[in-house]
Amino acid sequence: MRIAVYPGSFDPITKGHLDIIKRASKMFDKVIVAIAVNSSKRPMFTFDERKALLEKSVASVPGLDNIQVEAFDGLLVDFMHQHDSRIIVKGLRFVSDFEYEFQMALTNRKLDEEIETMFMVTCYKYSYLSSSIVKEVCSLGGDVTDMLPEAIMDETVAEIKNRSKK
Ligand code: COA
Repeated sequence: MRIAVYPGSFDPITKGHLDIIKRASKMFDKVIVAIAVNSSKRPMFTFDERKALLEKSVASVPGLDNIQVEAFDGLLVDFMHQHDSRIIVKGLRFVSDFEYEFQMALTNRKLDEEIETMFMVTCYKYSYLSSSIVKEVCSLGGDVTDMLPEAIMDETVAEIKNRSKK
């Protein structure tokens, strides 16, 4: 069974992430979307909230039966061992992503030489997107219709507006 792990902060999930999830779903028997800690970020949403938003978004797309959503706070390579996976899937948006992604891929391989990272080129429609962009546009009252999955749109917009006031 080919199990891939798609890690990220997903704070919150965007349409760009969902695009990668849909495409990875066709390539592997199972894809675990893993909400992980990036120690350089302070997330707006809790692990449980991000998990619920991811699960709702995935459930809204017919046929994504091989996607599982998990959250963990340790090393990615340890999580991968626990889930019997050797393949990391990441989305690549710009050349500017490459240096950081290259460093993470090499670090993960240094920690476990059997781990492979596969990069999927992000759909051009979403290549400008990031979770921070969504939060910024939304908190300033801009339209995020093309950025967030429809299934989570209303609740996420309301929460971002509410939390960014504090
Ligand atoms: N569509 C839209 N946005 C995308 C995207 C896509 N396809 N791919 C990435 N992005 C955005 C993300 O939303 C994120 O936005 P943000 O910076 O505003 O939050 C940004 O691009 C960077 O994404 P990514 O490089 O995946 O970083 P991340 O913070 O989401 O994930 C972890 C990094 C969590 C995977 C990494 O820190 C990790 O593995 N942590 C576990 C601990 C560990 O093992 N550390 C050592 C590994 S080097």
